[in-house]
Order: sequence, then C-alpha cells, then structure tokens
Amino acid sequence: MSIDFYWRLPTHGCHSTIRRGSYDRGDWSPIGPYNQSPGLGREGRDDGFRYIDHLAEIAKAAEISGFVGGLIPSFPNTDDPWVISPLLARETKTFRFMIAFQPGFLNPVQAARLSASLQRATGGRTVYNIITGGGGPAQLWWGDSFEHDDRYGRTTEFLDVLKGVWKGGDFSYKGRFYQVEDGGLSPLLAKEKIPEIWFSGSSDAALKSAAKHADYYLSWLEPFDALTDKFARVKERTAALGRQQKCAVRLDLVARATEEEAWRDVRIGFENVTDETRARWRGQATDSVGAARQAALRPTEAKRYDELIVGPNLWGGFNLLRGGPALGIVGNYEQCAAKLDELIGRGADAFILAGTPHLEEAYRIGEEVLPLLGRSASALQQAAE
Ligand SMILES: Cc1cc2nc3c(=O)[nH]c(=O)nc-3n(C[C@H](O)[C@H](O)[C@H](O)COP(=O)(O)O)c2cc1C
Repeated sequence: MSIDFYWRLPTHGCHSTIRRGSYDRGDWSPIGPYNQSPGLGREGRDDGFRYIDHLAEIAKAAEISGFVGGLIPSFPNTDDPWVISPLLARETKTFRFMIAFQPGFLNPVQAARLSASLQRATGGRTVYNIITGGGGPAQLWWGDSFEHDDRYGRTTEFLDVLKGVWKGGDFSYKGRFYQVEDGGLSPLLAKEKIPEIWFSGSSDAALKSAAKHADYYLSWLEPFDALTDKFARVKERTAALGRQQKCAVRLDLVARATEEEAWRDVRIGFENVTDETRARWRGQATDSVGAARQAALRPTEAKRYDELIVGPNLWGGFNLLRGGPALGIVGNYEQCAAKLDELIGRGADAFILAGTPHLEEAYRIGEEVLPLLGRSASALQQAAE
C-alpha cells in the first residue's frame, strides 16, 4: 500500500531555526531588513514580497521533495486557507491543498459550490481537514457558542448536506441545523470529485462523526500504544457502519545527521523558551479532548528538556518551540524513518509531517528521511512476521 506524505504549510508564520522561538519569517513579528516575506530593502522600504510568496516556496520545496500535498491550518491569527489554496495551486503542478476549516462557519451548499469550483480550477487538488473547534475563548472569537457535542452534530449534518447536494439533481434535507429544499449542484460542478475528507478530533463525538463521513481519521501524535488503540477503535467503528477509513498522523520531526545534533537543537530550543510562551500554552481554555491528551504530557511545567523525553526518540515539548501539539520525533535520519515505519506497522496509512524552518526542513526530510522508509530494522522485522 502506498503511504501519502503531506507537509504542513505554516500559515501562522515560521521561525528561521528551531533553536529560537521568535516568528522571524512573515509579519507576525516586527518587520526588519532581513525579514523573509515580507521584508524591508536596504533603504528600509517594502521589498515587495508577501507571506504568500514564502508559502509558495515551501509548497514547491515540499512538492519537489516527494510530498503529495500540504496542510493549511486555520486559526484566528492565520490567513484564510480558502484564499491561500487557489493562489498556491497556480504555483505548483500536482501538489494537493488540505484546507482546514470549521464546517459550522460556512453554509454547506456554498461550501460545496466553492469546493467544486476549486476542484474544477485545480484539477481536483482540494482536500479537507474538517476541524470542529476547541471551545473556550477561541470558539467565541468566531462568534460560535455551541457546546462541544452540538458542534460535532452540526459537522455531521454539514457533511450530510455537502455530500447530498454534490450528487446533483434534487436534494432535500431537514435536519436540526440545516434545511435544504430541492437543492443540488449544477451538472458541470457535480461531476467534480468531492474532496477527500480528513477529520480531526479525539472525543467520542468526533469519532462518531468521522465514522460516518471521513476518508481519513487524523490524529496528532500520541504515545504509540495510545495511538494504536485509537486507530483500532476508529477502524472498528467505521467497519460497523459498513465503511472503511484510513488513519493518519500529524507530527513534527527534528531529524539530523546524528542523534546528538538533533537533541542539541531541541535542548537549545527548550532553553530559549520564555516564561511568556509557557504561560500562553498553560492558560488556554479549551474543551478539546485531543488538546487535553497533549497537555497531559505537562510540557509547560518541565524545567529541563530531557524531562520531556517520553520514549526512545519521542519528545513531548514541541508546543513550547512552535505552538500546536506537544509530541514529536527527534533523532538521526534512520531513527526518524524507523519511528515512521513503526507507526505504519501500528496502523498509520498517511502522514502530515512538519519541521522548522518549514522551507529547509521540507527538503531535508524529503531527501534524507523519506527515502529510508521501509528499510529500517523494525519494518523489515514486521514484514518478516
Ligand atoms: C491534526 C489536527 C489538526 C488540527 N488543526 C486545527 C486547525 O488548523 N485549526 C483549529 O482550530 N483546530 C485544529 N485542530 C483541532 C481539532 O479540530 C478540534 O477542534 C479539537 O481536536 C477538538 O476536538 P476533540 O475534543 O474531539 O479533540 C486540529 C486537530 C488535529 C488532530
């Protein structure tokens, strides 16, 4: 079976090195003469580049390096993935764009037409990452006060309607959240393929909704035994509905020529974490089950980087270095490939990888780690069993 590898496109800015926490690429920090996209010329004038130019470089680097597409995350401080995706599609050839969005914020019929138009324009290169939101102040920021499980109820109905109108013809629907009468995309749009549905969320409500609608169930990296159980539950639940679902993992890597180098970069990065960063991650209120699992690793309380080593080549402090989930892989190229092989052996069918800085690490991981997959000792052993 072939495994699809996606890369992450950092819509929230990027760092020039994992060793320092400042967002010095993009305009999330004050712009200076050496800033990348946008930056200032020698005379202090705007150099004409925009952050989208940097994202295009990353997308092209990832495409050339063997990644089939890129995840475009969506948070209050990011640009909008629906805008980023078509702009980048014009700069790449086969690269797919995985648009993260909260279904509740779009009308499902409009989302279907928007997506079908994108499919038409890009030759079918749109993929969804369905996110249902983590509650708390971040949810209210969007003007959404729905409770956790109601948000998933709305997501399920949204996908019922989106798939329904995509069949064309007359489609009617009477749900709790949406009603449609005699809807249906025009034949020209309806003949496009519905984007692959990747589905994020760790709660029971998320698994239920994913079982009905998702092509891929997507999880952040978790301790391997927990992830294996989760994938088994997802696949079982989907099979009970007579469907099949693949499982995918989103994770960061620090991959270097030697393991010592990799841990040195992590240590320096950790030692540069400010109290402000720790407080930011400690203080975020959320009802997300997935986020709680990451917080259980207690990254914000650690005094030394090695307190966060949770297993061979597994480090639980990534959120301190670049935000997002806590757990990721650290090691030399062979060790990183072996860990990915192990995850494949435990049920992962696809990956969204990331490394900082995203541009250079797309090349490095594409050139140094991906070619080693399937050749590591654990993969050979599993193949023999
Ligand atoms: C791989 C992955 C990517 C995610 N990306 C985003 C994102 O871009 N924006 C966002 O607001 N939430 C994102 N989330 C959060 C989830 O969509 C969801 O809001 C959260 O996990 C709460 O659901 P839960 O209680 O079912 O875990 C992501 C989650 C995962 C697992």
